[in-house]
Amino acid sequence: MADIILGIESSCDDTSAAVICDGVLLSNVIASQDVHRAYGGVVPELASRAHEQNIVPVVSEALSRAGVAPSDLTAIAFTRGPGLLGSLLVGTSFAKALGLALDIPIIMVNHLQGHLLAGFVKEKGQESVSPSFPYLCLLVSGGNSQIVRVDSPLEFTILGQTIDDAVGEAFDKCSKMMGLGYPGGPVIDRLAKLGDPTRFKFAKPHIPGLDYSFSGIKTSLLYFVRDEMAKDPSFLENNKEDICASFQKTLIDILMDKLVKAARQTGIKEVAIGGGVSANSGLRARIAEEGRKRGWHTYLPAFKFTTDNAAMIAIAGYYHYLAGERTPLDVAPVSRMADF
Ligand code: KG4
Repeated sequence: MADIILGIESSCDDTSAAVICDGVLLSNVIASQDVHRAYGGVVPELASRAHEQNIVPVVSEALSRAGVAPSDLTAIAFTRGPGLLGSLLVGTSFAKALGLALDIPIIMVNHLQGHLLAGFVKEKGQESVSPSFPYLCLLVSGGNSQIVRVDSPLEFTILGQTIDDAVGEAFDKCSKMMGLGYPGGPVIDRLAKLGDPTRFKFAKPHIPGLDYSFSGIKTSLLYFVRDEMAKDPSFLENNKEDICASFQKTLIDILMDKLVKAARQTGIKEVAIGGGVSANSGLRARIAEEGRKRGWHTYLPAFKFTTDNAAMIAIAGYYHYLAGERTPLDVAPVSRMADF
């Protein structure tokens, strides 16, 4: 009998449900929440309410697109954390209720593990190319910046991570500060394509080992723009493409320096990226370029699997299911990675 897994993702501001059958994706539905745009960032309370409104229609749509009835499901995988607690509660409670109603197991998934395994989602009729184990994954999103060693679908070790802001936060906060809009990553990415990445220099952090820091560059950009605007009030408007290109290049340099170091230290040449920031065109080009130069095999996820989605939760849940893992119904969501 086929194993049909429903995946549910609600860790931040996307409500998503996906169905996979024996590891092959049948549907992946994502409802993004535009309500946060006006605030320039995710408002947790509003995110929880929107999840509550979206969860039933999103799951129904995922089942219907997959051509699967609820009674066909084998198990339900859901994101337990890390993320916003109120958002996670919606997906967790929904998974429990549906699992109970259908009398099928529920399987908790670490959101980050979902991003790490996004490259393993197989699509019907498409040849999928997934990394071989062990591989390094540069996991970069609005909440995380990590270099992770992945030894199997269920074994991963964090080799380095940010000690303060995530790189996605640096994109978002700096975009907001420059009045460019939210979410900042895609806006800065678009403007950066039109600018000169070598024109301005921003201070890079000196953090030992494989850890990152992104709070300093934020301050560096803030002071730079403030000082230039004091001399010329139209500085930002006239130079935003070059500022974005230079700022983005600095962020990519910081990410790549440690990734190259991690590859050298571990001797691993299988290198993947994941998380929302892995949609960045500059970062994708740099990883591919470094890969060619250093003899790495590089894996860039399809754009639809870079940001939060339930397909990656379903595939991670599928591996846990195959390993015989089942989650008890008294499970509670966790907001921090350390509590997982
Ligand atoms: O993984 P994700 O959807 O949510 C979590 O943080 O879990 O990532 C969202 C982040 C945001 O910070 C957004 O600005 C960033 O991904 N992002 C990008 C791009 N597209 C999304 N950052 C840089 N360039 C992009 N093209």
